[in-house]
Amino acid sequence: MTERKRILTGIRPTGSLHLGHYAGAIENWVRLQHEYDCSFLIADYQVSDYADDITHVRQSVWEVALDWLGAGLNPEGSNFVIESLVPEHTELTTLLSWFLPVSMLERNPTLKAEMAAIEEGEEPGSERKPVPVAFYTYPVMQVANILMPRAHLVPVGEDQLPHIEMTREIARRFNNRFKDVFPEPDALVGRVPRLVGIDGNAKMSKSRNNTIDLKDDAATVTKKIRGMYGGPPRGATEPGDPEENPIFLYLAAFDPDESEVAELRKRYETEGVPNKELKELLTARLNDLLEPMRERRAYYEARMPDVREALEQGTKRFQVLARETMEMVRDGLDLNYLEKY
Ligand code: TRP
Repeated sequence: MTERKRILTGIRPTGSLHLGHYAGAIENWVRLQHEYDCSFLIADYQVSDYADDITHVRQSVWEVALDWLGAGLNPEGSNFVIESLVPEHTELTTLLSWFLPVSMLERNPTLKAEMAAIEEGEEPGSERKPVPVAFYTYPVMQVANILMPRAHLVPVGEDQLPHIEMTREIARRFNNRFKDVFPEPDALVGRVPRLVGIDGNAKMSKSRNNTIDLKDDAATVTKKIRGMYGGPPRGATEPGDPEENPIFLYLAAFDPDESEVAELRKRYETEGVPNKELKELLTARLNDLLEPMRERRAYYEARMPDVREALEQGTKRFQVLARETMEMVRDGLDLNYLEKY
């Protein structure tokens, strides 16, 4: 049997996961876990206020693991990995930063936007903060995460693409100059690259308080959708443009019955459909999607030692890969001083 290709992907533990994460990435993970050897990483070292709020990072590690299990990731077939428990990541980060020009970090649009948001206190409810050096260099650590298991594919949200491009660049440089160790990994973006928030904002995000979380119960989802932004004001029986109503974006994303949605769109354009009707349908479809996730999550929440075990075993299996890679890297860079003197 030929060796299966590998996936590495991950998430920062900053809280519970929402529909944007699901449709942008996790749905792909669930689908691909049977075809690839997968490592799913909880990137605790890459949280921007790591040092300010380690307690929150710690709690979020469990939240993320529970959300993953709820979403349907199988921790026996795949590795759930806690970044900080694999110190090889920091070592590889240092070594790889030799192959990355400062200018490439400076140009990275995702990093730039994130740093500006921290410095300006742009996110609602957040204060201005200085950017820690460790945050500035997190994309290099992300490169190390991806190259550590010599991954072939990185299923992620759209905002992560600049980091994958950097990864390919660094892998190329290392392979050409030293030793052919790393595949050049491809990125894979989900079905809905960027999900609008329930307030109509371009992006669903926790800091904007406009999310539907995977663990929200049915009553919470109902309430959130009832209050959801439904396009510019319009009489209940006035025709409208579905493109201006985010409820249709959600239906397109989460209603498996395409003909149902197509019909509603037509009615909306011709005779008008009250938002109330759209919202009731959306609520039902979202609850259909989320209910099995809630049940699985609850199952594991009642069995936290199993979750701990999943993280321990996944991290251990990943460590084997990490040691292998570091050996090749050290060999490539001629760092085996005591072996070849
Ligand atoms: N930076 C990613 C995010 O903000 C999380 C992440 C860390 C990641 N390491 C990774 C994603 C490696 C893909 C691969 O969501």
